[in-house]
Amino acid sequence: MNHYIISNAAMMEAFGSQLVPACQTRTILHLQGELGAGKTTLVRGFLRALGHTGAVKSPTYTLVEPYQISGKKIYHFDFYRLTDPEELEYMGIRDYLTEEMLALIEWPEKGGGLTPAADLQIQLFYHNQTERLLKLQALTAIGQTVVTHISNRVEFSTQSG
Ligand SMILES: Nc1ncnc2c1ncn2[C@@H]1O[C@H](COP(=O)(O)OP(=O)(O)O)[C@@H](O)[C@H]1O
Ligand SMILES: [Mg+2]
Repeated sequence: MNHYIISNAAMMEAFGSQLVPACQTRTILHLQGELGAGKTTLVRGFLRALGHTGAVKSPTYTLVEPYQISGKKIYHFDFYRLTDPEELEYMGIRDYLTEEMLALIEWPEKGGGLTPAADLQIQLFYHNQTERLLKLQALTAIGQTVVTHISNRVEFSTQSG
């Protein structure tokens, strides 16, 4: 598991943007952490790096916000308001994931066993003042490619562990 200290919101966006060149194939990311931890901020950096210029808000009530940017499909999910994982069946979650796409999922734990399995898990924790601790864990070979890519970058201070 790789640990990073993210010193402010701009650095969280920068971290999200660094994930983009590493996600060259169908990739599913889980984003975990309390409200305000920075999950959506990371997604914003990811989408901006792809060229998205509009607003990025958590799709808390709609469960998913689809994006089509420079030929790529990106789905930003937020399961915070999910009261029953069955709702994911009703929304047809599997249909979103059949093709080449990138999925970023906030609150994946609320979907239980119906949440699509992650290639990469990102956990965010409140740290000192405005800092966040980011833990990055690969769960598949695709996720490992992303972790390797990120760990070759020097912009982010690393803690071993
Ligand atoms: N180090 C940091 N990383 C990310 N966000 C930060 C950081 N420091 C302060 N913030 C602020 O915390 C808030 C995070 O909100 P958001 O990304 O919507 O969280 P979440 O989606 O996890 O609920 C934003 O207002 C952001 O500006
Ligand atoms: Mg959010």
